[in-house]
This record gives sequence, structure tokens and C-alpha cells, in this order.
Amino acid sequence: METVNKDCVLTDNVTIRDGELWFSEQSTLLLAKKYGTPLYLMDEGRIRRNCREYKEALDEFYGNGAEAIYAGKACCFKAIYRIINEEGLGADLVSCGEIHTAKLAQFPLENAYFQGNNKTDWDIEYAIDAGVGYFVCDNVEEVDAISEIAGKKGVTQKILLRLTPGIDPHTYDEVATGKVDSKFGTAIETGQAEEIASYTLTKPNIKLSGFHCHVGSMVFDSDTFVRSAEIMLGFCKLMNEKYGYVTEILDLGGGYGVRYVESQPVISIRDNIREVSEFIKSECEKLGIALPSLRLEPGRSIVADAGMTLYTVGTVKKITGYKNYASIDGGMTDNPRYALYHSAYTVLTANKASEENTLKCDLVGRCCESGDIIQPDVMFPESITRGDTVAVLTTGAYNYSMASNYNRIARPPVVMVDGKNDYLAVRRESLDDLTACDL
Ligand code: LLP
Repeated sequence: METVNKDCVLTDNVTIRDGELWFSEQSTLLLAKKYGTPLYLMDEGRIRRNCREYKEALDEFYGNGAEAIYAGKACCFKAIYRIINEEGLGADLVSCGEIHTAKLAQFPLENAYFQGNNKTDWDIEYAIDAGVGYFVCDNVEEVDAISEIAGKKGVTQKILLRLTPGIDPHTYDEVATGKVDSKFGTAIETGQAEEIASYTLTKPNIKLSGFHCHVGSMVFDSDTFVRSAEIMLGFCKLMNEKYGYVTEILDLGGGYGVRYVESQPVISIRDNIREVSEFIKSECEKLGIALPSLRLEPGRSIVADAGMTLYTVGTVKKITGYKNYASIDGGMTDNPRYALYHSAYTVLTANKASEENTLKCDLVGRCCESGDIIQPDVMFPESITRGDTVAVLTTGAYNYSMASNYNRIARPPVVMVDGKNDYLAVRRESLDDLTACDL
């Protein structure tokens, strides 16, 4: 009889069975054999469960038409939009490329929010023509441009104004975006938010539907959202008192953190949403303002733990007395997050998952660059060698979407795994794909 040792690692979709790593209900080794490496895997069931966690908590604790808007920047391809549409989430889109992708997936764009701090006239035209429901408008130039372009087209475009509540979420600097000196949004503290909001109310062909903020990514507590809600609601109150404006939508942005390594906390999105919802309701009552409909924009927490990347080990270089390197067939081109942010990841040897890990190596890619590190100081089995399969966990967010063709390396495919089924969602790039735009 098969002895199944179902130790799960980090999340319950990653298990070790008879010394081999499994993902969802499948053997990673069989998937690597079937599709080749490097290979992005995405657990469709997990994406759906993550969507439902947001949706159910928002329905239960907030109501009032509250919605989760999936931030496509975390991972963007057609199958993802089909899934999030089926799960009833909206879409936060940040470029015409993302809008185009959602459109091809028949995503209902009236439930899309077009973000970004510098939309060109062309972007604005494209998004209006595509029927994007809301623009999240960053600055006064954009208000003018949207008003003018919508005017020429004879339409009224709904917008949210992106404001900065002046909060430091204590995450890493590259992803902190809600501070007063941020490149994003307009500061409440300096009075510029009031200026731009009251100005917007005078503009034709624009309907100000509400306010947006996004404080940062990898937020592990509800305190950050509560503090930003408090400041945003204070602003809604001011707009109500001074201009008689009633805020329809309050969008608090994205940012719940995920667990990349065991030392990071497990958080309950449900509890966090309950706390934020309760706070907003009582604060609105206290301030005597109407309860706005709430939007949250999760990206990472929808897809990160639904992802895993598989690689094949090429060389293991032991520099006696110094250090060791395990080189794989991918690298910073498919996962630039250590190179950019020194992000932590959990790494396992998929075909030797139950062996003792006694050999410390930097896990490195094959780009011509010393900074091409997936993760330093990883403990591997002493026997690690060419042909072994290495898995990097929790790679569903900001890996495929940030992948590049540096060194003209082709991007890996994305395979959706759903229980015992698997299907190709994005095919592997070919060498001809790499030269397709060259004239
Ligand atoms: N909404 C807005 C306006 C955002 O700027 C972001 C992320 C999100 C929502 C989604 O945040 P999430 O739930 O994914 O934390 N490349 C970096 C992350 C950059 C985040 C940019 N904005 C990384 O790999 O960590």
C-alpha cells in the first residue's frame, strides 16, 4: 500500500508525499516532465478560494454593494480574468495592456477601475472606448484630460480621485505608496486633495464617484486600513460639509500580505475585513455621513499562494571555504523579486523533499549578472545535483507579471492546476516570439 505522508509546507496546497513534492492534487515531478521547466504553476482552486474569502467577508460584514477588485498587476493573463469574473470580483487595471487582456477574456469592463499616475491621452481614449467603468484619477492634469476627451466623445466618465492619507504602512519602501511625498495621488494633509476634489466637481463630462487610496503592499494588520479609512472618511465629511458632496464609493486599495516563509504571520482576511467594516460603519455614524460602498483591491493575496515555480538544477558549484551555488534553468527573468526587493522565498527540492537539507547554497539563475539570485543561503540536500527539480513556493504574485526577456530568455509557460486536472493557460515563449517585433 502506498504510504502517503501529507506534510504540508507553508500552505495546504503544498504537500510532501513519499518524498516528492505535490501541488494541489498533483505530483510536481510529473508536471515538470509534462510541460518542461522553468514552469509556473497556478492552483485555480486556491485562486477561487482566495476570491471567495474576500467576497464572502465583504458581503457578510459590510454589505452595501462592497466589492473586491482584483489587482491584475499581481498576475495578468486571460484565464485569471475569466476566473475572477466567475467569482464576481471587479478588476483593477493599470495599463491598456491589462485592459486589452481583460477585454479578450470577456471581462465586463464596466466593473473595471483604471489606475496609474500618468495616463496618456491615448490611454484615456482607449479606456473610454473600451467601456472601462471607473478611472482612478491621480492628478489634476488627468482630471482635465479625461473631462476633455470624454467631452469630445459625448460621454460622462465616472472617476475616483486617488488621495494620499499620509500613512506609512511599515512595509518596504518600494511598495509604500500612501505617504504624503508619494508619486501617487494627491495629499489630504496639504489641502491639495480638497482643491482637486472641488475642482473636479466643476468639470463637465466627469462624474466624481468617490475617493481612492492605496497605502502599500504586504500589510499584515487591519490597523493600517483602519487608520487610512479614518483619514479618508474625515475627508469625505469635509467634502460633505463644505460642498454638499456625498461619497458613493470609498476604495481603500490593496495590500494584505502573504506568507512567503514560515516566520511570516498567518493572517485572517475575514477577521481583517470584519474589523475594517465595523470601524467604517461606526465612524460614518459618528461623523454623520452616509456609508459609502467599499472597494478593496487585493492582488497578491488572491494569487501569491496559488503559485509555485519549478526549475531544473544545472550546475552545483562548491567553492571550498567560500560558498556554494545551485544554478537553475530560470532566474531573475522569471522572478526578479529577490534582485529588486530582497524578498524571502521558501525553496524545496521537489524530488528529494524528505531528504535532510545540509548543504547551504545560493539559488541562482542563468542570467549574465551576479545579482541574478532567486534566494541566498538555501539549505539543500547534500546530494543535490544536475537534473534535480527545485520548487520555489508562493510565486503566484509579481513573478509572471514582472518577468522579462533579459538576455533574450524566453518566458516560461503558466499551467493551471485544479485538483487532478491541469491545463496550459500561457504557453512557453518560443525563440521566434523573442524576435517577433524585430524588423
Ligand atoms: N491597488 C493599487 C493602487 C496598487 O498600487 C497595488 C499594488 C494593489 C492595489 C495591489 O496590492 P497587493 O494586494 O498586491 O499588495 N512588485 C511589488 C509589489 C508592487 C505593488 C504595487 N501596487 C512586489 O513584487 O512586491
